[in-house]
Amino acid sequence: MSTLTIFFAVLYYAAALLLVAGLAYKIYDYARTPAPLKIPTTPAPITGTGVALRVAREVVVFESLFKSNKWIWLFGWLFHVSLALVLARHLRYFTEPVAGWVTFIQPFGTYAGFGMAIGLAGLWARRFLVDRVRYISTASDHLMLALLVGIGVSGLMMKFVSPTDVVAVKTFMLGLMYFDVQPLPADTPLLVHLALVAILMIVFPLSKLLHAPGLFFSPTRNQADNPRERRHLAPWAARLEQK
Ligand code: HEM
Repeated sequence: MSTLTIFFAVLYYAAALLLVAGLAYKIYDYARTPAPLKIPTTPAPITGTGVALRVAREVVVFESLFKSNKWIWLFGWLFHVSLALVLARHLRYFTEPVAGWVTFIQPFGTYAGFGMAIGLAGLWARRFLVDRVRYISTASDHLMLALLVGIGVSGLMMKFVSPTDVVAVKTFMLGLMYFDVQPLPADTPLLVHLALVAILMIVFPLSKLLHAPGLFFSPTRNQADNPRERRHLAPWAARLEQK
């Protein structure tokens, strides 16, 4: 077994552990954060089903962003939809046999790589071109964009410029999942791609990318507009009242 294979195997086990444990902790932390006030942004739904639909619209079509800024919506939505397609296409490296729908979306997933890059380019340009956004942009804003662009470009390089042995990549990934480490091809774009993905997995629970689970915990979006019908009493506040 080459040192390179061992390095990436250890890196991926560590990254997976940090990603899962980090995300679990952050989600637990969000879930136990008090939401003492009733603050849904109105007009808001008045039932639980209505709230579920509202959150679903936020997740699928980025409704609030659409209302507030069409340009950010366009690039942001393009990036996220493309990312979803790209990730769905990647399922073929982690499953055997490959599901029919994963085979079906392969071509869409490939070209979504360009959608991802265009979306990211638009979002990044905004951080330079719009004065008030440039003013509040920090190094981490730029670094997360750079990381995602790097993953996208190295992936597209593999697909269109210098192909890698995708069967060997799949054998390596399945090997990791079954604790039976198999050799990893030593192609530069692949190694860059995998190293950047590992970095992404490690920083994800510490970064702004936490907005993905965070969206579900947003009180202005996940509360029903029913303060008259039901008194808003968080469980921790109810316990205080009993004392
Ligand atoms: C351990 C996880 C991953 C593995 C093993 C992996 C592997 C690969 C491989 C082998 C290709 C080349 C496809 C081909 O030649 O047909 C590729 C392409 C690509 N990857 Fe990944 N990748 C991983 C994670 C990711 C992630 C998390 C992203 C996005 C954030 C990503 C974005 C892309 C893009 C945009 C392409 C080019 C379009 C395509 O061929 O699908 N990859 N990846």
